Amino acid sequence: MKKARVVVVGAGVVGFSTAVCIAEALPMCSVTLLADKFSPNTTSDGAAGILLAVEFPDIPLERQRRWFKDSFDHLLAIAQSQHSPEAGVILSSGWQIFKEVPVDKLPFWSELVIGFRLMTDCELKRFPQHKFGQAFTTIKCECSSYLPWLENRFIKAGGEVKQRKVNSLEELSSSYDIIVNCSGLGSKNLVGDTQVYPVRGQVLKVEAPWLQHFIRDGDGKAYIYPGIHSVTVGGTRQEGDWRLQVDEEDTRSIMERCSRLEPSLSKAKVLSEWVGLRPNRKNPRVERVLVHLQGCRVPVVHNYGHGSCGVTLAWGTALDAVGLVRQCLNEMLLEAKL
Ligand SMILES: Cc1cc2nc3c(=O)[nH]c(=O)nc-3n(C[C@H](O)[C@H](O)[C@H](O)COP(=O)(O)OP(=O)(O)OC[C@H]3O[C@@H](n4cnc5c(N)ncnc54)[C@H](O)[C@@H]3O)c2cc1C
Ligand SMILES: *[C@@H]1O[C@H](CO)[C@@H](O)[C@H](O)[C@H]1NC(C)=O
Ligand SMILES: *[C@@H]1O[C@H](CO)[C@@H](O)[C@H](O)[C@H]1NC(C)=O
Repeated sequence: MKKARVVVVGAGVVGFSTAVCIAEALPMCSVTLLADKFSPNTTSDGAAGILLAVEFPDIPLERQRRWFKDSFDHLLAIAQSQHSPEAGVILSSGWQIFKEVPVDKLPFWSELVIGFRLMTDCELKRFPQHKFGQAFTTIKCECSSYLPWLENRFIKAGGEVKQRKVNSLEELSSSYDIIVNCSGLGSKNLVGDTQVYPVRGQVLKVEAPWLQHFIRDGDGKAYIYPGIHSVTVGGTRQEGDWRLQVDEEDTRSIMERCSRLEPSLSKAKVLSEWVGLRPNRKNPRVERVLVHLQGCRVPVVHNYGHGSCGVTLAWGTALDAVGLVRQCLNEMLLEAKL
C-alpha cells in the first residue's frame, strides 16, 4: 500500500517531538517536517526548559496530568542515560518560593516530579520576603541541544526535513494527506487563530558555576536556573508585546529581582541576552479537524498554544497528536473502502 503522506509544520520543541513520535509509531506514514525557522532560531531554543506546569482552565486535569507525566518520564529516561549531555537534558533540584501562600499548595504535578515537599520555616529564612515554598527535583531540557538531537532521531526514523515558510493550508493540501500544525505563535498569522497571543519573555545567560539549585518566584518574574554550560536568569511576562529586541530596562530589573533572591549573582558575568515570545492561548489546542479546501476535505491535527509550558508538555501532547493522526488514517482507510 502507498504510504500516507504526513506533514508537520514547525521545528520548535512541539513540532520535532510530534514528528519523532509519528515517525516512530506509524511506519505506514512518510513524515516531512516543514518550518521557516530551525534551531537555534526558534522560541524553544531560548526557553529555560524547566519542567513546571500551569493549570489550563478548560482541559480535564487528567489529560494535563498525562501530558506532564508522559513528558517527564520520557525526559527522565534521557537524563538518566548516556544521551544526557548530547540531548541537553538533566535533573535539576531547587525551590519555588511565594510571597503569599498560594491557594493551591500542592499543584497537580507535585506527585509527578521527584521528592516534592513543602519548605521548612528554617529553609525559608534565606528568603525573607517569601512566606511559602516548595522544594523538588525536576528536569531541565535545553532545547538548543535537544532540538538537534530530536532532529537526528527523526531522520533515523525515516523523516525528512525541509526549510520553507507556509502561507496557507492550500499550499500543502495537494502534496500531503494529513497536516499537523505545530506552528506555535505562527498559528496566529496563517489563517488567524485570534486566541493565540504573545507573552514576551527576556532572559540572560550568566556564568556562575557556583550556583547548583534553581530558585523560582511563583509569580514567574524572577528565576535562576543553573544549566549545563551557564545559568539562565529571568524573566519577564509581557502580554501582547511583540518586541524581539533586548530591553536594557528589563535587563536591569531582572538582575535586581534575581539578586534579591541570590545576592552572589551580582558577581556573575553576563554571557548573553535573549528575548522570546511565548505562544499563549487560554488552552493549548490539541485536536483534529477536517478543513474544506477546494472541494476536498483535508484532515488537520492541531498541536499549538503551549504558552509558558511548551518544553514541559511537548512529548505528552505529541503522543496525543499521534493518536489523532491514527484516527485520521482509520477514517481515510474506511473512506477508501466505501
Ligand atoms: C523566556 C522564556 C522562557 C521559557 N521557559 C520555559 C520553561 O522553563 N519551560 C517550558 O516548558 N517552557 C518555557 N518557555 C515556553 C516555551 O519556549 C514555548 O512554550 C515553546 O517553545 C513552544 O514551542 P513550539 O514548538 O510551539 O513553538 P516554537 O518554538 O516557536 O516553534 C514554532 C515553529 O513553527 C514554525 N512556523 C511558524 N509559522 C510558520 C509558517 N507559517 N510556516 C512555516 N513554519 C512556521 C517556526 O518557524 C518554528 O519552527 C519559555 C519561553 C520563553 C520566551
Ligand atoms: C538562524 O538565523 C541566522 C540569522 O538570521 C541565519 O544566518 C542562520 O542561517 C539561521 N540558522 C538556521 C539553522 O536556520
Ligand atoms: C494552524 O492553525 C491555525 C489556527 O487554526 C491556522 O490559522 C493555520 O492555518 C494552521 N496552519 C497549518 C499549516 O495548518
